[in-house]
Amino acid sequence: MKVGLKTQIWPANEATVAAAARCLAEGGLVAFPTETVYGLGADATNPAAIARLYEAKGRPSFNPLIAHVGDTAAGERIARFDPTATKLAEAFWPGPLTLVLPKTEDCAVADLATAGLDTIAVRVPAHPVARAILRAFGGPVVAPSANLSGHVSPTSAAHVQSDLAGRIDLIVDGGAVTVGVESTIVGCFDAPILLRPGGLPRGEIERVLGRPLARPPQDPDQDTGQPLAPGMLASHYAPRAQVRLNAETVEAGEALLAFGSNAMPGVDAATAVMNLSARGDLNEAATHLFGYLRALDSKGARAIAVMPVPHHGLGEAINDRLRRAAMGR
Ligand code: TXA
Ligand code: MG
Repeated sequence: MKVGLKTQIWPANEATVAAAARCLAEGGLVAFPTETVYGLGADATNPAAIARLYEAKGRPSFNPLIAHVGDTAAGERIARFDPTATKLAEAFWPGPLTLVLPKTEDCAVADLATAGLDTIAVRVPAHPVARAILRAFGGPVVAPSANLSGHVSPTSAAHVQSDLAGRIDLIVDGGAVTVGVESTIVGCFDAPILLRPGGLPRGEIERVLGRPLARPPQDPDQDTGQPLAPGMLASHYAPRAQVRLNAETVEAGEALLAFGSNAMPGVDAATAVMNLSARGDLNEAATHLFGYLRALDSKGARAIAVMPVPHHGLGEAINDRLRRAAMGR
């Protein structure tokens, strides 16, 4: 990697959106906000740009990328939608849902972006800045979360800067994101499968489908054989600190990541206390999760005790990311 690029960081406005689209067209790497987390965009049809993107993130190139498009019609040019996929797209796009579908025959997305699979992950993001950039660029944009591979996803432009400054061309600062965890990924195969819990709660998808979503036949975490969502490797969301889940006490030397009331034996001796949502709101907790893990890391916390978080709604995605964080690297 040619580190030492001058990374520009510009506020989101019309001129920045135009510059972002030009940069993408020239093969550049542009970080921009989506409603879930910040993404690192590259022209999905440009293999050289995609190779740079994998390099900038330090991401293994066997881990495929999500193609972001402006609308379902653009999605249908790169992926084959069955009736289930169409139903989900109609119900939830634009929004925090990614569909894994068979590629179309003349799919313009580079093979490098899909890691040679015959399926492709597609998403229509809802964030106005992401939408403006996609409109101005006019083609599919691959965008993994804009963090170094293995770090937690960025929910602000400052997070992107601390991971990727000097490695990418432009950061479009559109403020804090509104969802805070990555999109929910559903594979539309014979039966729809929940490949990654995320910003769209499973219950909402099941209501539209009128049936429960299956989980992958093998736990993608186990790293046995070929995982269905290859990025769901156990170590994916690790902060530096050790993470201890479902804590009922704070042990000596631990920081506390609370949910609801802070009250807990040992809390007075905690090295730091951050509360995901004092009023016990899972949506609010999701918006704080990655930022607080980063903040506790940068305060030098060596261990983080995490209070139990309920499993419903966005709690499924929050608990999924916490479980991965607890596995360490
Ligand atoms: O919310 C999000 O989805 C964010 C924003 C930027 O859109 N993006 C994001 O991308 O989280 P990334 O690259 O960090 O995660 C994409 C996940 C990975 O786990 C990858 O393995 C999986 O999607 N994936 C991509 N293509 C796939 C495919 N064809 N089959 C199965 N899994 C796929
Ligand atoms: Mg990621």
